[in-house]
Amino acid sequence: MIPAQLIRPEILGLSAYHVADARGLIKLDAMENPYRLPDALRAELGALLGEAAINRYPAPSAPDLQRTLRQAFAIAPEHALLLGNGSDELIQILASAVARPGATLLALEPSFVMYRMIAGFAGLRYVGVPLRADFSLDEAAVLEAMERERPALTFIAYPNNPTGNVFDRAALQRVIAAAPGLVVLDEAYHAFAGGLSFQDDLARHDHLLVMRTVSKLGLAGLRLGYLVGAPAWIAEFDKVRLPYNVNVLTQLAAAYALRHVDVLQAQAASLVQERWRLLQAMAALPGVCPHDSHANFVLFRVADAARVFNGLKARGVLIKNLHGTHPLLDQCLRVTVGTPDENAAFLDALAAETGTTS
Ligand SMILES: Cc1ncc(COP(=O)(O)O)c(C=O)c1O
Repeated sequence: MIPAQLIRPEILGLSAYHVADARGLIKLDAMENPYRLPDALRAELGALLGEAAINRYPAPSAPDLQRTLRQAFAIAPEHALLLGNGSDELIQILASAVARPGATLLALEPSFVMYRMIAGFAGLRYVGVPLRADFSLDEAAVLEAMERERPALTFIAYPNNPTGNVFDRAALQRVIAAAPGLVVLDEAYHAFAGGLSFQDDLARHDHLLVMRTVSKLGLAGLRLGYLVGAPAWIAEFDKVRLPYNVNVLTQLAAAYALRHVDVLQAQAASLVQERWRLLQAMAALPGVCPHDSHANFVLFRVADAARVFNGLKARGVLIKNLHGTHPLLDQCLRVTVGTPDENAAFLDALAAETGTTS
């Protein structure tokens, strides 16, 4: 017997999510926060984890962590919370819960690739609605696609990955109002977006959910995402969540780190400052065309993305090459905002590769 006899064709047609080997390189490819916790907090966290009862299963719905999340991110008591092993897992939970035969998942394109991949895993039809060439929302196209395709689930990243921009708020509100199914506002980059959020809109729409992750805030290694929404919906998704999906060490470490959320938020604020510096320096390089960003990364276009990507790698800097992933991302690259030293190394290498220094 061979895999093709049993595995679904949509799985056979996929490639596994690719993670580049970053050993020995300055790692600016995955939107991680480059800063660790301060030494004193790390020591305290170490002692706390040393006491963890890893011989026991974790608390299934992580009540301590839920309380800390509610406090850290001002989540209103009338909204319910669902925790995931990364927001990737929450996307999968949502998709599998709505996967009736013929059900559709709609997303904007280009956006986070897992929306499309997970639609395939769950057996959902996938509909991608292209953004405009300047990466703004094509409201008429989205409304028309919603009317035609009647999606059960729509994902909108706000700010969007990999473009870094936020969509027009009034247009999004009209899209939410018109949606025939659930709308998930994925606010993975909220910490860098200057307070922009749809969390306050939850009170007005039962079919709206806000999803966030602590990955970009400095806790990517813990794998923790959370979904906020109306209790009736969250109760259904909770049935699809595998028991014990957030492990003992993650529950303890995330609750500890989020009790010090001010430290993480100060790191995010310094990354936003760095983003401005990076954007300005990139815009000053001939042949480099960066897009404005509300996230902790910058999308930019060059004449030959593959050559610049490989040249940067040879100079010790790993970024992401998006050329070939979507027609709107022709000759585009994405760099994560790093420490001032990392960004300086990136800028030197970029200037050299685009021909403006020796
Ligand atoms: C828009 C968006 N949503 C979700 C995720 C996944 O986050 P997590 O690390 O919580 O799985 C990412 C990661 O890049 C992302 O860009």
